[in-house]
Amino acid sequence: MRDGDEIAASLRRWYDANARVLPWRIPPAASERPDPYRVWLSEVMLQQTTVAAVRGYFRRFTERWPTVADLAGASDGEVMAEWAGLGYYARARNLLACARIVSGAQGGRVPETEAGLRALPGIGAYTAAAIAAIAFGRPATVVDGNVERVVARLFAVESALPKAKPVLSTLAATLTPVLRPGDHAQAMMDLGATICTPRNPACALCPLRGDCLGFAGGDPASYPRKAPKAAKPTRTGTLWIARRGDGALLVERRPDRGLLGGTLGFPGTEWDGTDTPPPMEAEWRAGPSVSHTFTHFHLDAGLLVADVGPDTVPSRGAFESVDPARLTTLMRKAHDTALPAFSFIERKDLPS
Ligand code: ADE
Repeated sequence: MRDGDEIAASLRRWYDANARVLPWRIPPAASERPDPYRVWLSEVMLQQTTVAAVRGYFRRFTERWPTVADLAGASDGEVMAEWAGLGYYARARNLLACARIVSGAQGGRVPETEAGLRALPGIGAYTAAAIAAIAFGRPATVVDGNVERVVARLFAVESALPKAKPVLSTLAATLTPVLRPGDHAQAMMDLGATICTPRNPACALCPLRGDCLGFAGGDPASYPRKAPKAAKPTRTGTLWIARRGDGALLVERRPDRGLLGGTLGFPGTEWDGTDTPPPMEAEWRAGPSVSHTFTHFHLDAGLLVADVGPDTVPSRGAFESVDPARLTTLMRKAHDTALPAFSFIERKDLPS
């Protein structure tokens, strides 16, 4: 196997010819640097999320808030609504908190070092390294799931994830060049996303095939080794969906901390089986249930729906006209599932 610099040079040549064109990127070996705000925004969005899912969100965010100062001036509700459907909502809250810090105390300048970036809310090792390398040309080692897979195969790492993470990071660092570290980081990601894929890697096209110990062993796809996953538990709960005659629905903003923190949704019980009283007296009818899988558990949420009068005062939340596109995926499923239960209201308005 060649040394890290030689491997990085092969990867760089491959990237120069094969880099994906992405809206937050500048072409390989460009003389200018990308806009740090766009790099930061894209890296936050891309955590736990695919490039395909991020594209539209990235475009809408940057059209609406072209600079960090514009984003800092947005309200929490506007940002949460624009983020709706992307998941992991703490990212959006932290993004806004960062924008306010950067455009306030830091005079609009995104920190350039990993340490400076990590001091911002919600920016961890991955995001700090990615921004430092891609936006500021620092030789930081960027390790995401794609990079872990590439490195585990290249070095045929036998220890299993998640325990293997520190080893994989150390090995990844042996490849990090001083020359064009941002392109290197993105080349590793692109290699992982397009060639060194989880299943059926396209080793015939790989610029690192000659170095790859996983390939040499005959079963590169068996890396990274993984510890068996614990089965996800199923939790249950109820969501109450109340609709007034004017079409307004009862919604509330969830507390900032915790799952779906800060997002808008229908009031519900806790998801641990404890009883919670409904938000008002009404003729609640049982609708179908909706299921949604979160990182650590499945949720089965039963729906209770009711048509309520104009003067109804709920014990929590408020009646609003709801745009389902602004809801989280769980709440949008609940909305779409509950809607037919209200259809007689709509039908009343139709000519007979
Ligand atoms: N995934 C996360 N960050 C990325 C980037 N900058 N380019 C491609 N894929 C990515």
